[in-house]
Amino acid sequence: MRPIKKDISKKIKTAANIIKKGGVVVFPTETVYGIGANVFNERACKKIFEIKKRPSENPLIVHISDESMLDDITKKIPSAANKLIKRFWPGPLTLIFRKKKKIPDVVTSGLDTVAVRMPSDKIALELIKMSGTPIAAPSANVFGFVSATEFNHVKEDFSKESDIDFTLPGGRTKHGLESTIIDVTKKIPLILRFGAVTVEDIEKTLGMKISVKVGAKKILAPGMYERHYSPQTSLYVFDNFDSMTEFILKCGSGKIGVLINKKYLKIFERFKNGEFYFRTYSTLDELSRKLYSCFRRFDAEKVDSIVAMKVADRGIGRTINDRLCRAGSVL
Ligand code: TXA
Ligand code: MG
Repeated sequence: MRPIKKDISKKIKTAANIIKKGGVVVFPTETVYGIGANVFNERACKKIFEIKKRPSENPLIVHISDESMLDDITKKIPSAANKLIKRFWPGPLTLIFRKKKKIPDVVTSGLDTVAVRMPSDKIALELIKMSGTPIAAPSANVFGFVSATEFNHVKEDFSKESDIDFTLPGGRTKHGLESTIIDVTKKIPLILRFGAVTVEDIEKTLGMKISVKVGAKKILAPGMYERHYSPQTSLYVFDNFDSMTEFILKCGSGKIGVLINKKYLKIFERFKNGEFYFRTYSTLDELSRKLYSCFRRFDAEKVDSIVAMKVADRGIGRTINDRLCRAGSVL
């Protein structure tokens, strides 16, 4: 966990006062930056949707700093949820509960359920604590595009004229991918979004297999959009190295952004066509931390297309593949 420096304490105080007064604040979490407001302030929460250009049918995650805050949010905590809370909170796991009436409809898009998580980032926790209220916050990026994993990303996405009242800096986020979302209102918990906590770890904690409804053709819950997390540049995703190289050779000339495991880099020396911009990684943890910043850097370099390969579909690899496939076109 990142320690809190003295100068940031002052900024957290300022941010908390803004939340109390009904303002909108961007803050770091251990997954991605969030853009938040007092969950009970309907007007402030509405503003978040406007700033992000987010459809109103896509509900927000409510962030808490203490389990006692759940009393204001939900009536009943199922036993599976208790196990998950004990193991993963504070941390990158979001749980869907039945909601109490006092949570405004704007936050939950009219659903009778509410998404809740307790982040582990110290700045986020302190902000919620000092604000004295749960904070409703989606990811701090323009809807449908790449989430922000660095302070600068937030500045790229939102101009000074935006309605954001304050931004708390927090450096690079620890995980780089969003939280895992699990619906615990069902008899058998249901994964709605792969995330920083792996399915394997969740099943181990619960001692049972759980259902997965991620990337279903039919939108079961708002926010399960097939296309999401996308860079501005066209991204092409391949199952294996051969199909990726075949595509590159067919491409002819042009600027190509290549996101690739370091071990393949040497092979590219053979290619004479195209102008390559490489971003490499050695481990899947490294890739998960830098995936979104790689997308953003390729965009900044104005490459003509980005190519990337799927990784082994287990552990955090499953989350990476999910984001690659939603962000781009699978060829
Ligand atoms: O890591 C994260 O979860 C980050 C940080 C800021 O906490 N937040 C984040 O929020 O990724 P957002 O808004 O980008 O994604 C939240 C997802 C959406 O897909 C939304 O549909 C889903 O949570 N969600 C929220 N409430 C829900 C509910 N009641 N039922 C089903 N899905 C829900
Ligand atoms: Mg998002």
